[in-house]
This record gives sequence, C-alpha cells and structure tokens, in this order.
Amino acid sequence: MSGFPHRHLLGIEALEPSDIQTILDTAASLKEILDRPIKKVPTLRGKTIVNLFYEASTRTRSSFEVAERVLSADSLSIATATSSATKGETLLDTVQNLEAMKPDMIILRHQSSGSPHFLARHVRPAIVNAGDGAHEHPTQALLDALTLREKKGRLKGLRVAIVGDILHSRVARSNLWLLSKMGADVVLCGPPTLLPPGIDALASVTHRIDEAVEGADAIMMLRIQRERMSGGYFSSTREFHIRFGLTEARAKRAKKDVVILHPGPMNRGVEIASEVADGPYSVILDQVTNGVAVRMAVLYLLLGGASEAES
Ligand code: CP
Repeated sequence: MSGFPHRHLLGIEALEPSDIQTILDTAASLKEILDRPIKKVPTLRGKTIVNLFYEASTRTRSSFEVAERVLSADSLSIATATSSATKGETLLDTVQNLEAMKPDMIILRHQSSGSPHFLARHVRPAIVNAGDGAHEHPTQALLDALTLREKKGRLKGLRVAIVGDILHSRVARSNLWLLSKMGADVVLCGPPTLLPPGIDALASVTHRIDEAVEGADAIMMLRIQRERMSGGYFSSTREFHIRFGLTEARAKRAKKDVVILHPGPMNRGVEIASEVADGPYSVILDQVTNGVAVRMAVLYLLLGGASEAES
C-alpha cells in the first residue's frame, strides 16, 4: 500500500504540503514509464475506474485514460451527452447505479462546485475531482507544479503571475492554494470584473499585466471562460487582448528564463499571442505530458498500488 493519507482527491485546499510533495515525487518517478518502449506496468491490474465527465474535456479525460491504461486498470468513460443524464437522471442516481457495478474509483468533472465532495459523502468508491465548476481542478495544479519544479528545480520562492479570467477559473483557485502552500509568491492579474471579491486577502492583486509579469519566474495565462459568463465582463476580445493578453514584448519584462504556462484550451490572440504560445519559453505541451504522470501518481496513491510500479 502507498501510505497516502487520503481516500479521495477532492481539492488542493485540504492537502498538506507533504501530500503535495508525495504526489509530485511519485509523478516524477512514474513519468519514466512513458518513455519505455512498452508503456505498461501491472500496478492497478484488477482495479476498475469510471471516468464520468459532465463537461467537455480533451486533456484531462484523455490523460486520465492514458494513465489508467499504463497502470493496467480497467476503465470506462462516460460522456454525459450520450448517457441517461440527458433524460433527467440526477448525479447521485447516476453514480449510485455506477457504484452498483463495483468500481474502485470515479473520476468526476461536473459544472457544480462541490459535486465531488457531495459524492464522497454518499458513495463507496474513491472520488477524484477532475474539475468542479469554478471551484477546483486539483490535478491541473499538480501538473502545473510538476512542470514548474522540473523547469525551475523548486517551487519555494518562485514569483508566479496568474493572469486572465481569475473569477471563473478553478485552475487559478487550485494553483493559488498549491503555490501558496509550497512557498511560492503569487500575483493575480485581471480586470476588476474578472477577479473574485476579497481575493486580495489571499494573494497580491494588480490590474496591470506589465506589473504582474515584471521579474516573474513563471507566467500562467488563463482561458477566458465564456461558457461561465452571463454578462459583459469586458467590452471585446480585442480590447481584452490589448489590456491583458500576453505578447512577446510583455513576456520580455519577466526573468530571462521565464516559463509560460496555459492549462488549455487556449484562445489564441485573446489571452495569449501565438508567438508566445509556440515560442521558446512556452511549456504548454510539457504540462500535458506531466498531466499523464500526475494522474498516474494520483491513481497509484489512492488505489494503493503495489511495488510492481517499478517493474
Ligand atoms: N486543462 C484542462 O482541464 O483541459 P480540458 O478541459 O481539455 O480537460
């Protein structure tokens, strides 16, 4: 057994720095399997995992699926557009029916904040939060941290600018928890309409991107989340790009060895210019590879993988 002291991964907020360290160390050690000619170990043989996604996903869902296959778990993926959720079945009814098929873990992406916490109180399988509304996206923050640690050798003391639609971003919330717990110095930047009230109690805040990126070790750009917007948060995407978009000229204000992150999917030409997204400081595709490693680590730690991981 792994000795990891949690049954579920619901968010970063409830984790201790030592838990985060354990996940990152485990991910760093398991990542090597992805470079083997045969990318498969028997670690989770006999375990069954359900990937239940109520919202669209490319990276998170596929990387959980790849992680499950590499670790030899049996898995099934349910996209709710083709499930009985379209007939009005509730989340709890759906999950209780899936639970009756005896899975060991359910990975949930859902539009309602707190939905994985609710499930963890009502069903037996381990629950992993793959993004709940605007609340948390813990595996995204963990893969971002693994990428930062690989590129910078540490998290403590890094100056990290998080820029864009903070208000609707579960990625920003999970990263703010994680980076603060691990001793990084976070500055948040966005228009006043896209910053949650009271956020200045948790991190430095600025409305000027030039100030946010000045001297930064890392810049994390966030997607404008139109699907969560009901009103006018900014006048136009063109104006947003002019005031808050990351361009090459702006990135030059950061440290010379800055790394630039984006969780994807990107709105090119809105929050990030293509020349930056595809440029030499971008680690966006490294984040995707590290997403598989982090999700392998989470599955391994929660499902009590045995020593075959090394085989
Ligand atoms: N970063 C992220 O969660 O991407 P997907 O929505 O494609 O899973």
